[in-house]
Amino acid sequence: MSLSVNHLLGIRNLKRQDIELIFQTADTFKGVLQRPIKKVPTLRDTTIVNLFFENSTRTRISFELAEKRLGADVVNFSASGSSVSKGETLIDTVNNILSMKVDMVVMRHSASGAPHFLSKHIQVPIVNAGDGINEHPTQALLDAFSIRERLGSVAGKKVAICGDIMHSRVALSNIYCLKELGAEVTVVGPPTLIPKHMAEALGVNVSYNIREALEWCDVANVLRIQLERQNTPLFSSLREYSLAYGVNKALLDSLKKEIVIMHPGPINRGVELSSDAADSSHSIILNQVENGVAIRMAVLYLLAGKKPELAV
Ligand code: CP
Repeated sequence: MSLSVNHLLGIRNLKRQDIELIFQTADTFKGVLQRPIKKVPTLRDTTIVNLFFENSTRTRISFELAEKRLGADVVNFSASGSSVSKGETLIDTVNNILSMKVDMVVMRHSASGAPHFLSKHIQVPIVNAGDGINEHPTQALLDAFSIRERLGSVAGKKVAICGDIMHSRVALSNIYCLKELGAEVTVVGPPTLIPKHMAEALGVNVSYNIREALEWCDVANVLRIQLERQNTPLFSSLREYSLAYGVNKALLDSLKKEIVIMHPGPINRGVELSSDAADSSHSIILNQVENGVAIRMAVLYLLAGKKPELAV
């Protein structure tokens, strides 16, 4: 079995069989990560460069750990402190790195489509670690894998994605992934933070009422307000946002059933999610982070050795 793609640029390009293959492979690697020696030599002869043109904590550490657990040689690149600040283009930067015999690229960039653009110019597998407001495919895979782990399956589950849908690459990748696996999805937030025509375009339900969405769902994936991507104010204040859309333990306790709380991180505690909800028994936030390493090991393992043609 192999993936139908040569790069992981987004979930939109994946088939259901691809996602299931990644999950089965991640199950095996999760077993490896429980052992005293959490390492296999699978990618011993592979060199991977992590190109991070935008800040990251979880994704960057998770990819680096996944690569090292697979025995790969790892090179880390940050745009800050590099020759990007002297005017070097993305292609020049990457080609210079690839000329040092790198086999795979993991890339985060603030520009939507940056990894897709790069895939037209280089012939090694690229893994998108988050591009602008477009996609964050490994986050969606680890999110769905964590739902499957907690609830037994993703098919038939009701998932509410809450908050700043407009600026969230996590939301878009989650919608593609959850729908492909047979879940029902509602996006909920202020009207100004939900793109128009989303229901028709992506086959999701739209709600502007957090209580109703939480009453409906089995799982709530709560997103951060992405202030760094908002050029004009889209709601009156963080305090009022929190009062209207914040998820807290009192709200969870008032529901007629127990739901699972997720968050991709970083959390703005007290804004979209209170500490008593983030740290409650409802929360699987740290399980998501743990599962990220196994999911990224699976993606790297399944893409290693692929010889992409230049995309047109
Ligand atoms: N979830 C996520 O992408 O977190 P980082 O920005 O810290 O990588």
